[in-house]
Amino acid sequence: MGYKTLLTKRVEFSASHRYWNPKWNEEANKAIFGKCISPYGHGHNYVLEVTVDGTVDPDTGMIINIYDLKPIISEVLKDFDHKFLNEDNPYFKDLIPTTENIARVLWDLIEKKLRETTGCKLYRIRLYESPDLYVDYRRE
Ligand code: NI
Repeated sequence: MGYKTLLTKRVEFSASHRYWNPKWNEEANKAIFGKCISPYGHGHNYVLEVTVDGTVDPDTGMIINIYDLKPIISEVLKDFDHKFLNEDNPYFKDLIPTTENIARVLWDLIEKKLRETTGCKLYRIRLYESPDLYVDYRRE
């Protein structure tokens, strides 16, 4: 019988961003976001962990073939890797690209592709902005 388990794939990507809320003036933005308001942005080496929930297929011993999972992640990351997220990524035109928001957008994109092309469910998106700061995003 197949049993349930979780599998996590870790990938890295580099992106730059700027924190700016257009509803506030410069002073208010600076008070909240500090140096992160620079119009030139600044970069991070993000680490993304995609955790998938599934049942182990007794024939393969796997819940998902990594050759199916990797292209889903790399396809989604095309809009993120080496991009200035505020300008180059369609999802952050009206959304501040904080680690929280990036994790949620990645959930939406990866969850959809996973659901459409595999039998697995997305369990969690973990996104590290730096080695000591990360966000976990989950949705039932
Ligand atoms: Ni930053």
